[in-house]
Amino acid sequence: MCGIVGYVGGRPALGIVLEGLRRLEYRGYDSAGVAVVAADELLTEKRAGKLAILEKALAEGDIAGIAEGTSGIGHTRWATHGGPTDRNAHPHLARDSRVAVIHNGIIENFAKLRAQLEADGVEFTSETDTECVAHLLAREMVTDGAQGLADAMRRVCRLLEGAFTLLAVSADAPGAVVGARRNSPLVVGRGVGENFLASDVSAFIEHTREAVELGQDQVVLITADGIEITDFDGEPATGRDFHIDWDASAAEKGGYDYFMLKEIAEQPQALADTLLGRLKENGDIVLDEVRLSDQDLRDVDKIFIVACGTSYHSGMAAKYAIEHWTRIPCEVELASEFRYRDPVLDRSTLVVAISQSGETMDTLMALRHAKDQKARVLAICNTNGSTIPRESDAVLYTHAGPEIAVASTKAFLTQLVACYLVGLHLAQVRGIKYADEVAAVVEQLQRMPGKVREVLETMEPVRELARSLADAKSVLFIGRHVGYPVALEGALKLKELAYMHAEGFAAGELKHGPIALIDEGCPVVCVVPSPAGRGVLHDKIVSNIQEVRARGARTIVIAEEGDTAVEPYADHLVRVPRTPTLLAPLVTTVPLQVLACEIAATRGHDVDQPRNLAKSVTVE
Ligand code: F6R
Repeated sequence: MCGIVGYVGGRPALGIVLEGLRRLEYRGYDSAGVAVVAADELLTEKRAGKLAILEKALAEGDIAGIAEGTSGIGHTRWATHGGPTDRNAHPHLARDSRVAVIHNGIIENFAKLRAQLEADGVEFTSETDTECVAHLLAREMVTDGAQGLADAMRRVCRLLEGAFTLLAVSADAPGAVVGARRNSPLVVGRGVGENFLASDVSAFIEHTREAVELGQDQVVLITADGIEITDFDGEPATGRDFHIDWDASAAEKGGYDYFMLKEIAEQPQALADTLLGRLKENGDIVLDEVRLSDQDLRDVDKIFIVACGTSYHSGMAAKYAIEHWTRIPCEVELASEFRYRDPVLDRSTLVVAISQSGETMDTLMALRHAKDQKARVLAICNTNGSTIPRESDAVLYTHAGPEIAVASTKAFLTQLVACYLVGLHLAQVRGIKYADEVAAVVEQLQRMPGKVREVLETMEPVRELARSLADAKSVLFIGRHVGYPVALEGALKLKELAYMHAEGFAAGELKHGPIALIDEGCPVVCVVPSPAGRGVLHDKIVSNIQEVRARGARTIVIAEEGDTAVEPYADHLVRVPRTPTLLAPLVTTVPLQVLACEIAATRGHDVDQPRNLAKSVTVE
C-alpha cells in the first residue's frame, strides 16, 4: 500500500527520497511527506494529495537546510486510519519534533496504545494509528545516537500488533535510518558509502541493484557504511541478499503516456520471459524454487487457487486447463473469503497462491491458513523477495518485470502462463502426460507472444471504438468457459479505470436475470470461444449474442479469425488470432485492456493511478 523510502549517505537525501517516492507513488497517492536530518535538526514537510503537491510545497516553503541533509525518509500514503489530510499524512513526529516515523500497514492495537499514551498526557495531532508509534519511540529512546534509536525501535515493535513496515529518523541520531517489518515488505539497497531502505526495489534501482530482503520481525539500522540487522529482541539476524535483474529504465514510461500503455505493449516480451528456460531437454518443466518432492506432488488430490482481483481472474481462467491436464479437482477462491469458510485442507491439498506483488495481505493470510492446515503451498508471483513466495513451499516467478500501473495487465497474462506451467508440471510428475505431450503444449505456449503481438498491432479500431463508448452509462461483458473469467476481467478493468458501471457474466446466466439490464444501445462485449474447440460452446454463445442484440444491445464481439458465424450479429468485430481453446484468454483479454485504458483516458482519468486504489494491498 503506502510507499516508503529511506536514505543515508554522502549525498543530499531530499532529492533521492523524492525520486524514490515518485517511483513508488503507484503504491498509494493520497498524501506524501518527507523528513530530513540536517545539522542535528529534523526538517519535515507533508501534504495531502499527490507527490507533486508536496514537491510544490517544498519549493515554496524553501525550508532552510532541508536540501543539504544527508539522511532522510519519505512516504506516499494510501489512507487506512484517518482521511487523506495534511495532518494525517506521514511522517508523524514526537519528542518535540526530534523523532519522525513513517509507516505502511495497520497497527491493530493502536486504540489501546493511544489510550495509554493519552492517559500519560501525550497529545495526538492526527487520527492515524502511526502517530502512536512516534510517541512510543520518543518514550523508548533512552539514549541518543543510532543505537539508541534502533534499541527504541526494537522495544516499540515488541508492543505492536498487526502489520507494519516502519522507518524512523531522529535529530538525536544523525546519519542513521532505522527500519522494522512485520507482515509488510521492506528491502535494503546496498550502496557504496550509502544505503537505502524501501518498500520495493524500484525506489533505489537507479542507485544500486544489490538488495537485502528483511525477514519477518526484523529491525535494520542503516548508516552510510553499515547495515545492521537484528530481531525484535536485539539478537543478530540476517536478511536474504539478492541481485535485481532489471534496471531503472524498466521502471520508466519509455515514451508512453501511461505506464499501463507501456505494460500492455510489453506483454509479448513478458510472456516470452516467463516461458524462457522452462522446458528441460528431457521434457521436464522447471519451476523456480521447489521445496516439495515429486512424491508430494503425486499425492495432491485437490487444488485450491487463492488470489484477489485480476490475479483471481487468472486463476479462474487457468482452472480449465489445470483440471483438464491433471484430472485433479481445482477450486478457485477469493483469498479474502478463503479462510473464513473453514475450507477442507490437508497434506494432499495443493494451494496455489497467485499474486503480482507478493504482498497482498488477503492472499498471504489465505496462504498462512493453508499452511496451518498442513496443505502444500505453491506461489505464482512477480516480485522476487516478497513475502508470499518466501512463505511458500514452491515458487514460480512470472518474469513480467516491474508493473507500475495500478491496473494489472502483463502480470495477468504471465500469471496465466505460469498456471499453465504448473498444470503441466503436475500432469508430468503424476504421469498423466508424456513428455512429448507436455512439449507440444509448451510449443503452443511459445507461439503466444507472437499472437499477442499480432493482437496489439491491430488495436487502433478498438481505440476508436473506445472513444465512442466513453459516454456509455454501463458496459456489460459476457463469455463462456475460459471466456467467462475474461469477461469478468474486462469489466474489472473498466470499473477501476473509467469508473463506469461494468459487469461480467457467464453468458448462460443472462437469461436468469442480468438480461433485464439490456436496453437500447447498451454496449455488450462478447468473448467468443474458438469454433474449432468446442462447437457446442461456440454455438451457444452465438445464440446469447443474438438474444442481447434482439433486446437492443450494441454488440462488440471478440472472435477468432475465420469465425464467420458471428459476423451477422456483431456491431463491432474484434479479431484475434486462432488459438487453442484453453490458451485463448492470452489473446482475448488484450483488446479488453486496451478498451478500458482508452475509455478511461477519453474520460480524462489518470489511467495509472485510479482513485481510491493502490497497487499493493497490504491490509485485509
Ligand atoms: C486490478 C488489480 C488488482 C490486483 C489485486 C491482487 O487491475 O491489479 O485487482 O490484481 O489487488 O494483487 P496481487 O496480484 O499483487 O496480489
